[in-house]
Amino acid sequence: MKKLFTAVFLSLLAVCSVSAGPVITGNAEKGWTIKTGNAAYRLTVAKDGPVKLSYFGPASVNPEVHSSAVIDEVPVRGGYVDEKPILEAVFPDKVRDIELEFVKGEITEVDGRPALVLEQKDKYYPLTVKSYIRVIPEMDIMEKWLEVDNGGRKSIMLDNMQSGSVFLPKDEYELTTFQGVWGNEFMPETTNLTTGTKTIEVRDFKSYGSSYFSVRPAGDNSATEGPVWFGMVNYSGNWKVDFYKRFANVLQVTAGVNYWDTSWELKGGTSRSTPKMVVGYTPKGPEEASRNMRKYVDRCLLPAGKRDKVRPVLYNSWYATTFDVNEEHQLALAGIAKEIGVEMFVIDDGWFKGRVNDRGGLGDWTVDYNKFPDGLNPMIEKINAMGLDFGLWIEPEMINPNSDLYRKHPDWVLHFDNRQRSEVRNQLVLNLAREDVYQYLLKSFTELLETHNIKFVKWDHNRPISQPGWPGETLEKQREVRIRYVDNLYRLFGELTSRFPDVWFEGCSGGGGRADGGILSFVDMTWASDNTDPVGRQFIQHGYLSAFPAKTMVSWVTYEDHNAVGFSLGYKFDVCMQGVLGIGNNITEWNDEQKKVASEKIALYKEIRDAVQMGDVYRLVSPFEGNRTAVQYMSEDGKNGVLMLYNRERNIGMAKPEDSRSAMLKLQGLQPDAVYSIEGQKAEFTGRQLMDTGIGWPVWGAYRSRILKVARVN
Ligand code: DGJ
Repeated sequence: MKKLFTAVFLSLLAVCSVSAGPVITGNAEKGWTIKTGNAAYRLTVAKDGPVKLSYFGPASVNPEVHSSAVIDEVPVRGGYVDEKPILEAVFPDKVRDIELEFVKGEITEVDGRPALVLEQKDKYYPLTVKSYIRVIPEMDIMEKWLEVDNGGRKSIMLDNMQSGSVFLPKDEYELTTFQGVWGNEFMPETTNLTTGTKTIEVRDFKSYGSSYFSVRPAGDNSATEGPVWFGMVNYSGNWKVDFYKRFANVLQVTAGVNYWDTSWELKGGTSRSTPKMVVGYTPKGPEEASRNMRKYVDRCLLPAGKRDKVRPVLYNSWYATTFDVNEEHQLALAGIAKEIGVEMFVIDDGWFKGRVNDRGGLGDWTVDYNKFPDGLNPMIEKINAMGLDFGLWIEPEMINPNSDLYRKHPDWVLHFDNRQRSEVRNQLVLNLAREDVYQYLLKSFTELLETHNIKFVKWDHNRPISQPGWPGETLEKQREVRIRYVDNLYRLFGELTSRFPDVWFEGCSGGGGRADGGILSFVDMTWASDNTDPVGRQFIQHGYLSAFPAKTMVSWVTYEDHNAVGFSLGYKFDVCMQGVLGIGNNITEWNDEQKKVASEKIALYKEIRDAVQMGDVYRLVSPFEGNRTAVQYMSEDGKNGVLMLYNRERNIGMAKPEDSRSAMLKLQGLQPDAVYSIEGQKAEFTGRQLMDTGIGWPVWGAYRSRILKVARVN
């Protein structure tokens, strides 16, 4: 018995510890300390009731002594108005003030990770608030979320329920977030945080930049050094992150669902949880913060069954055929795709009933027999016989008024009585909060996937939501519609991905309008942008890789060349190799030389993709800083890597500063004393030489690129 106890205890300790000791220690009397490799988080129980956060920052200080602020761990609307509340409630008797007191704290495990669960309750009303902190110590990351419970019989109205709040030590800070528009996603923006609130938010379900943020002391500018607090919200609907700075320079960050025009009726006897806020700290600069976040998305969010599977080389026929799809042309494309080394052939929009252009068809998820008289199966069989897997595009959440579904169920869309139903790209948004809509979509796509050998689904979402009404329902329920929509969206994804565990899912949202930690718990990859110009793409991909893993970033070679540069095909391939390689051209028009280049590049990608998709990413030279881009990938064991190097324009006579700057390329992430070879370099180098001094920039000429293998030789 004693032996068994010791074994269980030791195994628990192994899960809940980092090498330096246990991750979470303490109790209600002494307070709790959470320690990751580099960060510490300190909580205590105040005499008058609530749990207080007293420190979040470098682990190098003693958080039990060093207190940077003493502020509620779960700030509520109630009492003094000096913090941003993350919980705002109206009780049945119309009291709008919450007063929390500590009930208990438990150090436990949630899904195999150490977690601290703090329970607090209102001093008078039957409202219990559990706040979770789940720790991923090796990434210096914590997940925070709330679960609230109404133990009474009458409803409590929640006006606001964010996932969590943190406070940073007193300092002047600058904030970097990622913003964008269609065709120009994931653009970094940096600003000083002055007194007041800086908010990043989504109000129409479209986010062209994600909720990823990083905060660092103002004036720090090294990419690889210095303290950085970072985080995001794992949510795909309307989210919000507030950075609230008081004049005293204490910075509070809160994150969660955006309760703008939203509330939740917490009925008696029910509870509700928030999505997770992710927050971390590293002393090693924004690049390490990004590396940690990518690792977190990879190891903690991506669908576990396919997380470690190499993503196939894709062909997608959208650019080649748009809506004009037919068997003959698709087979011709597939034949060449196979010849050049593609593994997955995907038909995009245009295959389903009535989809001759973007003015009809969405909602009717059966094949268009005018285009495919014998259905899709004979074509899929031929594509499979060529040795290719087959994939299809869908857009479940949308509907065209010109569809059988809309003619039958005009009330299934989000709308208000007496108001117009605004169309975007001729489409309306299905009210996925409705159970009948959910069931219809589940049935349609289950049938589609059961009756066809489909191995890849591209799930698009082309328009923002508007007029979010739900006529016939109570005002309370209508105000919940956005949250209920996302609940059912995740339910639908969850159901379909578990019914069809071997199917790859790609998320898309009219380009990169919905890449986040919510959707990436269901999809294996996402489409980063409809901008496939090789220069535009370098910027977008740099931004995307700030938070999301390379194995999730789909990138196609196409004909796009927005500034008439005349890129070589090789340059285009080299840009797309930064993530999951795809091809979108009309390859039936390619000549032998183009096919040869494509075959060679795809073969090269297959050689390096293990490092690209499964390894660590080091963004050595940012495209935002000059006319070059450099990205380094290293396999997990550190033995193999690849450098992806790109020039953009060159300026005559060093007319621009970047052309006269040092062009040494310094690598990162190597073992200082190990020896490495780099393709094309005569000598071998130690890791220290490569990281401290580097090699001369090995790409000459405008719009040239090189993909160079790196190998550890001892
Ligand atoms: C928008 C996507 O971003 C494109 O790749 C393509 O799938 C179109 N939708 C199809 O309508």
